[in-house]
Amino acid sequence: MGFIATLKEYRRTLIRARYRLARQMKHMAPQNSVRLGGHNPHHRAFVGAKEKYDIMAAVQFNLLTSLGLREHHSLLDIGCGSLRAGRLFIPYLSPGNYYGIEPEEWLVQEGIKLELGNELIELKRPSFAYDNDFNLGVFNRTFDYLIAQSIFTHSAKPQIAKCLASAKQVMGSGSLFVANYIHGEKDYEGRHWVYPECVPYTEATMRGLVTAQGLGFYPFAYHHPGGATWILIFPPCDSPKVRSAMNAPGTI
Ligand SMILES: C[S@@+](CC[C@H](N)C(=O)[O-])C[C@H]1O[C@@H](n2cnc3c(N)ncnc32)[C@H](O)[C@@H]1O
Repeated sequence: MGFIATLKEYRRTLIRARYRLARQMKHMAPQNSVRLGGHNPHHRAFVGAKEKYDIMAAVQFNLLTSLGLREHHSLLDIGCGSLRAGRLFIPYLSPGNYYGIEPEEWLVQEGIKLELGNELIELKRPSFAYDNDFNLGVFNRTFDYLIAQSIFTHSAKPQIAKCLASAKQVMGSGSLFVANYIHGEKDYEGRHWVYPECVPYTEATMRGLVTAQGLGFYPFAYHHPGGATWILIFPPCDSPKVRSAMNAPGTI
């Protein structure tokens, strides 16, 4: 009897500890997840379902090339993770044209080691910055294309606003910013990044966040294996690139 009571108490302690850890991780800055053991240290699993690692790379590559990305263009990959998309974009783009921002340096290093290899890095000379506050100006240049794949799906409104304001500073008149979010009936009202769970926003909220920065907003139907909604974000001028992007195959 005493043994069973001890066992029950032990189980209750374990459950309490698990909930405490889950609560702490929910509000944790992403860089802390590794230091504390992380919810998944694997470089592929950290950015999403491992079995979708290949298709999520292909979707990003197909989408951007169908929106006009060519090797001479520059690309900023916001939250580039373990280079899931970078492993297709880096070989494709001309040397020096791929830029990745990511708070988790270990993810990028694992991506280089396990997905790309140092020879390709030497040949294509991508640039990386390890930043967790959407300081997209760290490279001191503008970009032809920007992508934020599964970033707003985890971000709080102030983070999305910061990212968009910063993106505007590194966009020229013909730049195109492709992002996605989880469309929902209600908004996530928290103030923190949530990971690995996703957070929803209504289309009106996303549109408001984008247009508040003086940028154009265009949601379009293009397959996303995780069910996110794609949007085009662009400067308010009449750019031929934006017009043709809106008519690109797969967009409506
Ligand atoms: C779901 S993963 C997507 C990674 C990558 N875009 C892809 O498709 O594989 C989200 C990524 O955002 C990164 N992240 C978290 N906070 C960020 C921030 N403030 N700025 C840029 N990236 C961030 C995470 O570390 C993680 O690598």
